[in-house]
Amino acid sequence: MRYITAGESHGPQLTALVDGVPAGLSVSQASINTDLARRQAGYGRGGRQTIETDQVEIVSGVRFGRTLGSPIALVVKNRDWQNWTDRMAVEGSAPADLVREVTPRPGHADLVGVLKTATDDCRDVLERASARETAARVAASGIAKEFLAELGVEIVSYVTSIGSAAMKETDPLVQAAQYEPLAIETSEVRCPDPEATQAMKRAIDRAKKSGESLGGTFRVVVRGLLPGLGSYATGPERLTSQLGAALFSIPAIKGVEFGLGFEASRREGSKVHDPIELDPHFGFVRTSNNAGGLEGGMTTGMPLIVSAAMKPIPTLMTPLNTVNIDTLEVEAASKERSDTCAVPACAVVAEGEVAFVLANAYLEKFGCDNMVDIRAAIESYKQRLKTVSR
Ligand SMILES: Cc1cc2nc3c(=O)[nH]c(=O)nc-3n(C[C@H](O)[C@H](O)[C@H](O)COP(=O)(O)O)c2cc1C
Repeated sequence: MRYITAGESHGPQLTALVDGVPAGLSVSQASINTDLARRQAGYGRGGRQTIETDQVEIVSGVRFGRTLGSPIALVVKNRDWQNWTDRMAVEGSAPADLVREVTPRPGHADLVGVLKTATDDCRDVLERASARETAARVAASGIAKEFLAELGVEIVSYVTSIGSAAMKETDPLVQAAQYEPLAIETSEVRCPDPEATQAMKRAIDRAKKSGESLGGTFRVVVRGLLPGLGSYATGPERLTSQLGAALFSIPAIKGVEFGLGFEASRREGSKVHDPIELDPHFGFVRTSNNAGGLEGGMTTGMPLIVSAAMKPIPTLMTPLNTVNIDTLEVEAASKERSDTCAVPACAVVAEGEVAFVLANAYLEKFGCDNMVDIRAAIESYKQRLKTVSR
């Protein structure tokens, strides 16, 4: 299963193409729309979200709510397009009164993109580098999420810190596997701790007031995975490398940790590795989950727990200095309409990226082209695991 997205931030629409999806999978536009709304929400997001109400339209590959096995095309309209038809016209030439973007924002793709592509307008770069593109990713990965849900796999994400406001957890890796989606989704910053939620909101208010922006950290937790997905055989097949690459593909992600993460490097081995036991009902289990559900590049069957760090939003309302690419004079960087903080939204995007990697790992192990054979292959694997642990 793979996807590709197309579309500019202020172009007519975002498009995602997903291929390699097995036939016979139930998909619903409504559940993709729920995720699109979750991506748009979150305390600290900017004015764009009041213009857009993202809705997906599936235009190929699905019949009567079930996949056909053919490529699936998904479209999300940009409502803001109507305000940009002249400046973002597909044909014709630039309007006479066009104001080019010539003051690249530090921290964004503007300057390097201009140098790389030989343009004199940062807009040629920022329209695509904008994280508006992540709406198309959420639409595409909705297909992977539906596939995993049908196999009993549940994905949640939650925010653990915004700026220096962090939630306190006594045993994060145990607690991570226990949070209920309701406790997360009812928080305006998608953090299950009400006290931390308030602290994070206050941090965002302070940042907004002073023209600043904030980053933060979040976790993605996946429950219900079978052991043995992924492989130890080659580097690219290791689930660890695939998940890392997928998470680092999200704009502004600067760190990824599995399970204990960097903390594991500070402990002795016996305080890190997860003892193996035989449970009469579940077979082989671990008495802890410091590995975060991955060993040797494969799932262990314990919850997958991955944390990621997002840097602060580059667009600042009190901008840093930059160099004007026309005059070569020092000036304040441009102030594109922007979020103050997008960590809660980023966590939703990360759920989708993780879902895509895991859906592929299932397809790799259990066959590819239809849900009936995939379910049968999974059942047979489960039976074999039972025999092994008896
Ligand atoms: C969900 C989401 C929303 C974002 N919103 C903004 C924004 O409103 N303004 C902005 O300057 N950057 C925003 N960013 C971050 C930029 O897209 C990102 O920093 C930029 O593309 C440069 O890439 P890099 O940070 O990986 O170097 C957002 C990122 C994500 C994931």
